[in-house]
Amino acid sequence: MQEFQTNKKNLNQTRLVDTTAQTIRDGQVLAKVDRFAFTANNITYAVMGNQLRYWQFFPPNGDHPEEWGIIPVWGFADVVESKCDELAVGERVFGYFPPAHELVLTPAKISSTTFIDASEHRAHLPPGYNAYRRVLNEPGYDRANDAERMLLFVLHLTSFCIHDMLQSNDWFGAKQVVIISASSKTSTGLAYGLAGDKQAPRVVGLTSKRNSEFVTSLGAYDEVHTYQDITQIDADKPTVIIDMSANTEVLSALHNHLGDNMRYTSNVGLTHWDEPRSTDGINQERSHQFFAPSVIQQRMKDWGAEEFSKRSTEYVMRTSSKSRAWLQVKELDGVQGLADVYADVCDGKIAADQGLVVVM
Ligand SMILES: NC(=O)c1ccc[n+]([C@@H]2O[C@H](COP(=O)([O-])OP(=O)(O)OC[C@H]3O[C@@H](n4cnc5c(N)ncnc54)[C@H](OP(=O)(O)O)[C@@H]3O)[C@@H](O)[C@H]2O)c1
Repeated sequence: MQEFQTNKKNLNQTRLVDTTAQTIRDGQVLAKVDRFAFTANNITYAVMGNQLRYWQFFPPNGDHPEEWGIIPVWGFADVVESKCDELAVGERVFGYFPPAHELVLTPAKISSTTFIDASEHRAHLPPGYNAYRRVLNEPGYDRANDAERMLLFVLHLTSFCIHDMLQSNDWFGAKQVVIISASSKTSTGLAYGLAGDKQAPRVVGLTSKRNSEFVTSLGAYDEVHTYQDITQIDADKPTVIIDMSANTEVLSALHNHLGDNMRYTSNVGLTHWDEPRSTDGINQERSHQFFAPSVIQQRMKDWGAEEFSKRSTEYVMRTSSKSRAWLQVKELDGVQGLADVYADVCDGKIAADQGLVVVM
């Protein structure tokens, strides 16, 4: 058995570490990881590993553990040993796992469809990441949709939250929404949501030359431009920017081009994580960080968990079904398969219509 680790100081460096079988205590279960998705979102977890405590979810095994981190992934696992009365062997769970063969969970707050991992080291981490779904108890659960769920549901849940943030702020008075890194799955989830909303402003996609054709083919964006053609965006319209890239050269050029019509920028992602970063030319007063887990927690309080689940599930089902037309799932063979493509994910070389799923 092995686990995939990343050097915390040099994210391009990885290693596979041999692990031994874990034992469980009373109240715990041993979950065997079955499969998980891997996208730019996971690279962002590594980039923000220290700042947002992503390294703390799954402590690494092996030598010099202080130098190495485990990037969390979204996936499915099966309970193979249980000392917990409510969760029997054979239970299938969806949630946050290490890219590894197994994970010991300490289930708490167990309902028929959910539980949380009450492991001590996770107690102070964002609760959304500690929640697991007991999928066999979900009406209509179908293994055939596992890949879509891992690859899209989590990201489109963020798209839902961004849509809600825009809508509840009356679009910040904007007449157009510019989405940077428009080919990412989180962006396409938002673009589909906005395209289906009659009240929403125009949607403009900004992307790289190589992904421009793909983004145009989605039919969700009213206009598509490349990073080289920022000045073609209509600067006379009040604009809100949803930035998935953290490419400050692009952002600063766009802020400069839009001037006072840049009404609000939401800093959501870091797909261009390896570009130099600077605050020059960025309107920081109108730029705000977006962190989906906090928004989800707030909306669950506002609406109640059931209503939040109803609204977000409806959105995600709609947007992910649209992605079905183009999403090509590519299965990789275990953590070695992940190690083989990891550099390409870091470098943004994975085709935008591809979704990587690691099968353990
Ligand atoms: N704040 C939050 O709460 C939150 C929640 C969920 C996701 N996110 C963030 O949203 C972003 C998108 O995640 P995703 O999983 O949806 O992405 P994805 O589908 O894997 O996105 C792939 C796209 O990202 C761009 N890209 C990736 N790596 C690149 C590189 N090294 N250099 C240049 N471009 C690169 C390319 O798009 P272009 O050519 O179009 O630029 C590429 O087509 C991530 O940063 C993620 O962390 C944030």
